[in-house]
Amino acid sequence: MERPIGVIDSGIGGLTVLYELKRQLPKEKFVYLGDTLRCPYGSKEPMEVKQYTWEMVEHLLTFDIKLLVVACNTATAIVLEDLIQHLNIPVIGVVEPGARAAIKSTVSQHIGIIGTKNTISSQAYEYALKQINPHIKTLGIACPRFVPMIESGDITGEEAYRVVYESLKSIEHSPNIDTLILGCTHYPIIQPVIEDVLGDKVTVLSSALETGAEVSASLTFYNMHTTTDTLLSNDPLILTTGSLQVLQRLKDEIFHFTNSQVKQVTLV
Ligand code: SIN
Repeated sequence: MERPIGVIDSGIGGLTVLYELKRQLPKEKFVYLGDTLRCPYGSKEPMEVKQYTWEMVEHLLTFDIKLLVVACNTATAIVLEDLIQHLNIPVIGVVEPGARAAIKSTVSQHIGIIGTKNTISSQAYEYALKQINPHIKTLGIACPRFVPMIESGDITGEEAYRVVYESLKSIEHSPNIDTLILGCTHYPIIQPVIEDVLGDKVTVLSSALETGAEVSASLTFYNMHTTTDTLLSNDPLILTTGSLQVLQRLKDEIFHFTNSQVKQVTLV
């Protein structure tokens, strides 16, 4: 089982999930594909998101991946069921793991969800949360300005604080919210800014930790863990449809994948 695990995202956000996967599964090989050229997916027509996601998947299938992680909330909300139905490898999205993490964390049973326009309007998190506990109260807030800001590399400055403050202002009207789901894999990159703006009454969660646990459990269930005894020294292979610049910087500075190769690919 030396085949790699494939990870896809609309851009750089899925690196937050990849980082956690590599931390929890250090012996596994990973190949990551971010569709940076066509990012963001969050405000595109669902049919477009479906087409682009399938194009990424077709590309990763050429690497003979043994499991697929859809590290993009928008693609998970729109395409996960279709992928599960048509692929003959396990497929794991990020919505259910994120919902489970929030259920574990909340005491007030009142959970906020922030995400792209598509993710929030799909109500995928509400559905996943209420499947577990129908009494959970939710508030979904679309934050369409976050992804373009993060993709441009603006993640800590004054402008980032202003955009986060303006986007999350409405949470003030729901003082019982004690847990906020980062329902977009880009958002953990600005998690310190979000936490500063919200203060310490709200626990801010991403789905990365729980997704790592789910992938690990899935590899055990399907008896698919790599059989190599040694930790692979090679970091994940990172593919992008867009410019290499931001990815090169983030993969070193934030994710410490210093030995990762970053390559540009064209999807058809
Ligand atoms: C986007 O492409 O708009 C964000 C990706 C996500 O929803 O995680």
